[in-house]
Amino acid sequence: MTQHLTIVDHPLVQHKLTLMRKKETSTASFRQLLREISLLLAYEVTRELPVTMTEIETPLCPSQQPMIEGKKLALVSILRAGNGLMDGILELIPAARVGFVGLYRDEETLQPVQYYNKLPKRMEERTAIVVDPMLATGNSSAAAIDLVKQAGAKDIRFLCLLAAPEGVARMKEAHPDVPIVTASLDEKLNELGYIVPGLGDAGDRMFGTK
Ligand code: URA
Repeated sequence: MTQHLTIVDHPLVQHKLTLMRKKETSTASFRQLLREISLLLAYEVTRELPVTMTEIETPLCPSQQPMIEGKKLALVSILRAGNGLMDGILELIPAARVGFVGLYRDEETLQPVQYYNKLPKRMEERTAIVVDPMLATGNSSAAAIDLVKQAGAKDIRFLCLLAAPEGVARMKEAHPDVPIVTASLDEKLNELGYIVPGLGDAGDRMFGTK
């Protein structure tokens, strides 16, 4: 990947995102839309995955054809909202290994603190796709990517649904080598750290906790 920020402006993605933004969209619809949109975003974030030629037999003849090395891929979900994005990607790439990073914000220092970290083995051999629907301040995403790098990963991409300019700037500063794929670059963060216009709290909306 060469471009640092890719905005997936496909009409299907944009239409589904608009429905997700609407405050009256139910939890069930939000979840369904997230699943659908994650398939479309997965298509974009995996666009440049390496393929290897594999010997197969069609009904007509033996043939060399390209295949993705599924087990070389690691999806890393930033808990908890990352899981909503990850489910759809796993439908497309069922052989991918999966890791989880849990972070909370220390109320005094405002810095992310790790409470869970379970990553697949041999991260140095894998392409890692780190997923979190909302790139807001970028602090937790940057911290999660620190952990993925500490585990040895060198080829890392970040996938989110919405990004704020502040989050993109933070990621560029902390991890300029990590391309970002998103469905939208929104206007700003508000004083509470929410993306505006945004869609509210992604975790609450997908899990119905509010
Ligand atoms: N996390 C969310 O769920 N929503 C925001 O707007 C920002 C961070």
